[in-house]
Amino acid sequence: MNRIETLQRLRDARPIIAPSMLKCDFGNLNREVERLTEAGSKLLHWDVMDGHFVPNLSYGAMLIERVRPLTDMLFDAHLMISDPAKYLDEYIKAGCEAITFHIEAVPEPVSLLRRIRDAGCVAGLALNPGTPLEVIAPFVSECDLVLVMSVQAGFGGQSFIPASVEKLKQARQMLSADTILSVDGGIGAKTIAACAGAGTDLFVAGSAVFDQSDYKLAVAELSRLASRPN
Ligand code: DX5
Ligand code: ZN
Repeated sequence: MNRIETLQRLRDARPIIAPSMLKCDFGNLNREVERLTEAGSKLLHWDVMDGHFVPNLSYGAMLIERVRPLTDMLFDAHLMISDPAKYLDEYIKAGCEAITFHIEAVPEPVSLLRRIRDAGCVAGLALNPGTPLEVIAPFVSECDLVLVMSVQAGFGGQSFIPASVEKLKQARQMLSADTILSVDGGIGAKTIAACAGAGTDLFVAGSAVFDQSDYKLAVAELSRLASRPN
């Protein structure tokens, strides 16, 4: 799979509901992946935390690599780590089709975005709620995906920050129609439609999927709400 094919798959799958694996049952990963496949998920969102860029620690490329053979779903690694350049190759080797890192960790992101693209992956740039869009403006032509954090990166289960809707609208205006606009944090039945209305393509959802007993129902309901923007 190359980058152009991945981008086409992503565009065709819009609105994309991406389960955040931070919230999955790690004692039952195989079954969780099966359930998400049955739910019709097209992309898994892997939250990588280093206990340094964010206060929390999660998992690394080894775990992602073990899950890779279990599914054809696309993998997006959300690297909440201080030195993504150092570890990038591990996530490429693990089979991630998309790799997203933070502008706050890499203020001069062009060479890293190019490394990701040159490896055949979709290159994503994330920004935390406190970081204005102007900070990423010079680099958006180098991005395939922009991830607007609607909570401070670091933990699942936080409340959606309402100002994110306006930020998404402005991001949509800043980006070419081809660039995937993604939102992450506190996405659920009460918040997803407003984000969709702002022009968001991809919705990361942790609690709104994994706290439900029926993943298929949860993904279908989120997709429905994202398809009918307010
Ligand atoms: C937060 C992570 C999110 C988080 C989403 O740092 O990037 O992906 O797990 O979880 P919910 O949907 O529960 O806010
Ligand atoms: Zn995330």
